[in-house]
Amino acid sequence: MKGLKIVATGRYVPDTAVTNDDMAKLVDTNDEWISSRTGIRQRRLAAGEPTSFMAVEAAKRALEAFSGEAEEIDLIVCSTITPDFHTPSVACLVARALGLKGAAAFDVSAACSGFVYALDIAQKYLETGAAKTALVLSAETLSHITNFEDRSTCVLFGDGAGACIVQPSDGRYASILGADAETAHVLYATIPYPPTPFEKEEALAKGRAFEVVNDGFIHMDGTEVYKFSTEAMPACIQAACEKLGVQPEALGLIIPHQANLRIVRTAMKRLGLPEDRAYLNIDRYGNTSSASIPLALDEANQEGRLQPGSLVALVGFGAGLTYGCALFSW
Ligand code: ACO
Repeated sequence: MKGLKIVATGRYVPDTAVTNDDMAKLVDTNDEWISSRTGIRQRRLAAGEPTSFMAVEAAKRALEAFSGEAEEIDLIVCSTITPDFHTPSVACLVARALGLKGAAAFDVSAACSGFVYALDIAQKYLETGAAKTALVLSAETLSHITNFEDRSTCVLFGDGAGACIVQPSDGRYASILGADAETAHVLYATIPYPPTPFEKEEALAKGRAFEVVNDGFIHMDGTEVYKFSTEAMPACIQAACEKLGVQPEALGLIIPHQANLRIVRTAMKRLGLPEDRAYLNIDRYGNTSSASIPLALDEANQEGRLQPGSLVALVGFGAGLTYGCALFSW
């Protein structure tokens, strides 16, 4: 069975809602600048909830919506770039909190494309029979790697988590994953390891893949990311459609990574599709990196935007620079 079926979804966002006016108290910005350039009006920011806490809450809600038993879950794949620990993984912390014994559990790192990567990995396990019921989730505390003194980035990001439970099906499935890694330097956040007694900062700097500001915060060339994403998003949707032998017009709903309203609008125009064919919630949550797609998926599901049998496209792009699209029947 090549297809997959999302049999349950869930989400969690922190209670703390921070408006654009609140951001204007921190940095020299205003609601008009932020909302007209990005579509963001507010974001939720963690107030002590680590990434794994949000992941567990989203997973609990997906499990509540699941008609089966938690013990059936034999694979947990979590996408995050903001894990609580280098190790153990967030997936293992979810398994521990929910008592999911015996399931294979690991994290994947593909930034804002991460949920699509995680889902595609799960699909391969389901297709081969290596797993029967997968918990696929994304959780991000981007506020931990955001410089709240940098107006060019801090207004963009939010925190949250989304989860889904996936089983094999004989429905349609196609995916496109990729990375355009010569652009790795346009969007990054370092892990600011202190040098060991055997390392010199100059040698460390020389050895890095590219020149960095080593402060642990997100650094971004917004114009480059904009150019990349407005090309990559429609191109990978188109390529995934070609794999299934359908036109983009056949898509019932596109759930894009919520980075910027203008990016989504441009992509939809390039695909020749109306804007309302894309699900959007960026106004309320900002850019929650890999959590944005499963968060939107759960909202779309609850709002009845996903019709049984219709084709759904999940599409992401992010640091790496990576991109990915997964196309399947709802
Ligand atoms: N408030 C007010 N002014 C600001 C702010 C702010 N928050 N941020 C930047 N500015 C200023 C700049 O300093 C600049 O001023 P200057 O002309 O005096 O130098 C001016 O606004 C224009 O800056 P630009 O960067 O050219 O603004 P632009 O219109 O390109 O919009 C944005 C910036 C929204 C980031 C845009 O480049 C974009 O959408 N990029 C895509 C990247 C993206 O969405 N990244 C999200 C994270 S990555 C991911 O999810 C994959």
